[in-house]
Amino acid sequence: MSDLETLERETLAKIAAAETIAALEDARVAALGKKGVVSERMKALGQLAPEERKAAGAALNVLKDKIAAAIDAKKQKLEDAALDERLATEKIDVTLPIAPSPRGRIHPVTQAMEEIVAIFSAMGFDVAEGPDIEDDFHNFTALNFPPDHPAREMHDTFFFNEKEDGGRMLLRTHTSPVQIRTMMTRKPPIRIIIPGRTFRCDSDQTHTPMFHQVEGLVIDRETHMGHLKGTLEAFCKAYFEIDSVKTRFRPHFFPFTEPSAEMDIGYERVGPKDSGEIRIGQGAKWMEILGSGMVHPNVLRNCGLDPDEYQGFAFGMGIDRLAMLKYGIPDLRDFFAADARWIEHYGFDPLDMPNLATGLSR
Ligand code: DAH
Repeated sequence: MSDLETLERETLAKIAAAETIAALEDARVAALGKKGVVSERMKALGQLAPEERKAAGAALNVLKDKIAAAIDAKKQKLEDAALDERLATEKIDVTLPIAPSPRGRIHPVTQAMEEIVAIFSAMGFDVAEGPDIEDDFHNFTALNFPPDHPAREMHDTFFFNEKEDGGRMLLRTHTSPVQIRTMMTRKPPIRIIIPGRTFRCDSDQTHTPMFHQVEGLVIDRETHMGHLKGTLEAFCKAYFEIDSVKTRFRPHFFPFTEPSAEMDIGYERVGPKDSGEIRIGQGAKWMEILGSGMVHPNVLRNCGLDPDEYQGFAFGMGIDRLAMLKYGIPDLRDFFAADARWIEHYGFDPLDMPNLATGLSR
């Protein structure tokens, strides 16, 4: 075997044996590098006789091309193998559950609000909002509270200092002013619910100075008390997640509705008196859960609507109270005490969005 053939065999064997890119590079330098064996032989060509030089040069060039091609092919192979290995080890199992326990809990008031919005949205209601800081007109006057009427005192209003014009802003005592804001800016038919914060100077086991209400308002040409009853009964069934619910409408007074009614819901206590649980929807006892009525003609007029053309119903209820009832939470003041242990116990999973398809609460 010629000297050149031996060199070729040895070099190609080295290339074939290289298991890493670095080893392959060593083989390349040893053969084709500046001081590599092939390069050295190229340099030595000058010492040959001219007629020998031509043939030896051609043979060396053939060898050089062969080696370069072998290195390229091997390099490609090593790179493919490295990529395959990376792809195999970086595999992601998309069927694995995401972060199994997210931190933080959803407050029961937020949960109840989202449940209420889900129920009324499915009935075709929009959500409207208004400011926490209101004026006398929207909170009282337009809602048909006469000036100096005791009902204004009944609300234990938080007033701001008098302005230069003698007027006083206030923290809204109910969500009803958003009825006014809506009727003054939107043409009927109107079908909205208004969740939000409300404020009254009051504090005990079932009252806090800041609390939450949700208001409902439906205005159309032929809306009547039957629609009001049907809507509220459907709401109660959906909210308390029970098939049947016993309700009762009791005459009441609100300046902004005529006739007005409070709705009671049947319940019973099971188990011991203090620690026992409340079962909603059945039983011999009644609990008041909301105020409602047909929107007073004066209110419609105050908003520029003709009572001979339009009529409708409204209702208002306490969200905190609804959350206490549904989730068996005994003291309202704990809702706003910012105690991490309380929210850990009564809070909800942030990944569960209340909806009617998969259930409101878990
Ligand atoms: N605004 C009333 C309150 O805070 C609740 C209420 C009663 C709202 C009757 C209404 C209604 O819309 O029709 O006590």
